[in-house]
Amino acid sequence: MYARAAAATAVALMGAGALVLPSTTATAQSPSATSASDHDRPLVVAHRGASAYAPENTIAAIDKARDMGFRWVENDVQRTKDGELVIMHDETLKRTTDVEEVFPDRAPWKVADFTAAEIAQLDAGSWFSPKYKGQRVPTLSQYMRRVSHNHQKLVFEFKKPELYPGIEEEGLRVLRNEGWLDKHHVKSKLVIQSFSADSVKKVHALRPDVKTGFLGTPAVADLPEYAEFADQINATHTSISAGYVEAIHDQKGPHGKPLEIFTWTVNDAPSALRVAGFGVDGIITNTPDVVREALDES
Ligand code: G3P
Ligand code: CA
Repeated sequence: MYARAAAATAVALMGAGALVLPSTTATAQSPSATSASDHDRPLVVAHRGASAYAPENTIAAIDKARDMGFRWVENDVQRTKDGELVIMHDETLKRTTDVEEVFPDRAPWKVADFTAAEIAQLDAGSWFSPKYKGQRVPTLSQYMRRVSHNHQKLVFEFKKPELYPGIEEEGLRVLRNEGWLDKHHVKSKLVIQSFSADSVKKVHALRPDVKTGFLGTPAVADLPEYAEFADQINATHTSISAGYVEAIHDQKGPHGKPLEIFTWTVNDAPSALRVAGFGVDGIITNTPDVVREALDES
């Protein structure tokens, strides 16, 4: 049986924030349906989609997660030269597309050095398997439409936001335009995370109602500081212990509920069982089926 944090009883409404993004539902309120305390076992999140089985961060990867029965997917968001937000993990296009063949003279092939139209020409599937030839690098809008179509939920990561000043406002704008900042989505379908504390703080300031996560393993003594702007502390699984998870749950986040932890990247059954035993709230994994099976059998 998994150690679980006790259900939070208080719903703390946030004070007035600087809501620069007009929305009929921008009133700050506590997201609840993603809360660990609503579940008796960790949520399973398909990392970059079901990325062990389909090319990461493509539409095929989120469709694969859907087909395997997983609602939660994770992604990485960066910005093109002409300001389009796209789904890509690495700072360059080299590893996960055929950019070196299509644009041989454009080393080092940074995302930020290519226009959206150029990136749209790239094959983002063949590197993984010939079966996925023709997969594209999705724009954030295309991606959000597919996640909506699939009735999925999203852990959205601003990747290297320090390279892209203003990306938080832009990302939130796209989310709002795609219908993802209404009360329903904010309550149960979205977490925005980053390795950059400044970026998470900014998202929290812009949209205090949105659930946020800080990627990292801050010292226990520093957790209260993070709890001012992050609802989750999302640490690598090799860095955590039962005591650390307990220390996280002992803090209350910006919405008055216990801080949560989604740990990553857990791709084998023993590790899944280990972190589930610690009482983590979510497990981010390239192999969601492996994690699900481990949890089912425990
Ligand atoms: O969601 C956690 C994980 O994605 C963070 O690391 O490098 O895979 O984006 P990375
Ligand atoms: Ca990520």
